Amino acid sequence: MSALTRRTFLSATALGVLAACTPAVTTAPLVLPTDPRVREVEAARRSTGRTRSITLAATAGQIDLGGTVVDTWTYDGAVPGREIRISAGDVIEARLVNRLPADTSIHWHGVALRNDMDGTPDLTQPGIAAGAEFTYRFIAPVPGTYWFHPHTGTQLDRGLYAPLIVEDPTEPGAYDAEWVVVLDDWIDGTGTTPDQIFADPRQRTGHMGSMPGMGGTVSPLLGDAGDVTYPHYLINGRTPSALTTFTAKPGQRVRIRFINAGSDTAFRVAVGGHRMTVTHTDGFPITPVDTDALLIGMGERYDALVTLSDGVYPVVALAEGKNATAFALARTATGSAPGPEVRPSELTGSIVGYPALKPTIAATLPAKPPDIVHRLALTGGVMSYDWGINGRTGDLTNPARVREGQRVRIEFVNTTMMWHPMHIHGHTFQLGNSGPRKDTAIVLPGQTLACDFDADNPGQWMTHCHNAYHAEAGMMTLLGYQT
Ligand code: C2O
Ligand code: CU
Repeated sequence: MSALTRRTFLSATALGVLAACTPAVTTAPLVLPTDPRVREVEAARRSTGRTRSITLAATAGQIDLGGTVVDTWTYDGAVPGREIRISAGDVIEARLVNRLPADTSIHWHGVALRNDMDGTPDLTQPGIAAGAEFTYRFIAPVPGTYWFHPHTGTQLDRGLYAPLIVEDPTEPGAYDAEWVVVLDDWIDGTGTTPDQIFADPRQRTGHMGSMPGMGGTVSPLLGDAGDVTYPHYLINGRTPSALTTFTAKPGQRVRIRFINAGSDTAFRVAVGGHRMTVTHTDGFPITPVDTDALLIGMGERYDALVTLSDGVYPVVALAEGKNATAFALARTATGSAPGPEVRPSELTGSIVGYPALKPTIAATLPAKPPDIVHRLALTGGVMSYDWGINGRTGDLTNPARVREGQRVRIEFVNTTMMWHPMHIHGHTFQLGNSGPRKDTAIVLPGQTLACDFDADNPGQWMTHCHNAYHAEAGMMTLLGYQT
């Protein structure tokens, strides 16, 4: 069976098992996406009553990455797809027309939305068939930097992704300009498709997290940094030969929203000649903290403020452990630009870690011991490619059960030799007792990460590694509300 059929099969099985829950089963029934409670919780969400209607077409075709023309799949022929920008509490009404030769769906990464709009095929909706369409309609209640992408097979590693910015109408906005910087690792249409990578073990070898040519600095990721070698690394869909230039005036303060839309690459980003003041983790405010560089796992977002000097500066995203970079420019003056081979010293400077990121009071959960603790062991390895959770691969039949109203702790226990960016759908958790609010968090080899949240969004939610190949191999499970 091909990877895609296998995944669809597993998901369909999961849905069947979920739907089959009856009083004869010793455990309580699960709250399915179709449960009236899902609609009730949505009706109680604070909304502006304003609706933003958009139509997206998922399309196969040629696009130009900057001299490199590739056949790939995109939203409306653009990589990244067109940004959606709304105010918190607005209703998104997004009609997705599927012109791909395959099923698809849209997952709204990080948004605490109604379960039946979460876009996970065969779990919260049937896959949207080739030639069919589906309209997503939901309140986006919490401000922040989000993004969206499909949740089928390895489609994420094509060009199907775009930013979703939910603005905070009450935020002072102490900046002059805003840049959305989307990072990606690219291979589709260069002779190999993501499905071929998934199917062929020779395409997936470990990349040790050290950086040749940079004094052998050991990566904070430890061990294997990624499995896949990509020919291109992109900022806003562009290779260095046709790079994106961000312009502003000298002395202006810019809010940069970094989004890692990559599938197998952590990026270490820096703005040459500048320090950054980090203000948000996965959309949630923190006490501002300065850093030279940020290390961003797949699915993670950071907002940072930079006050630009007078000149032309490199924006460099090092593909961690892969000795390659994505490259753009920040320009406040005329003058010659550095070339794409430049490695700003900030890349080897300080990298702010999770312990130094302190959520604001508003972003901090009230202190409370967990009502329930689920330990999810991350298991498997790169040679056998049996990435899983608790030793099971792609098992959606055995959810981590919670009840609405509980304080939940998920402990990710990384028993593997590699890091994993773990993502929980529909919720934002707090790391440890006082750490940042996030929806995707890096779990290092040998590390245990405690993620606390309030179970306030009933339904069935995917919980998985945001390495597209690890998820497809089976490092996924469900967070399942029960009655
Ligand atoms: Cu962006 Cu299920 O993930
Ligand atoms: Cu992983």
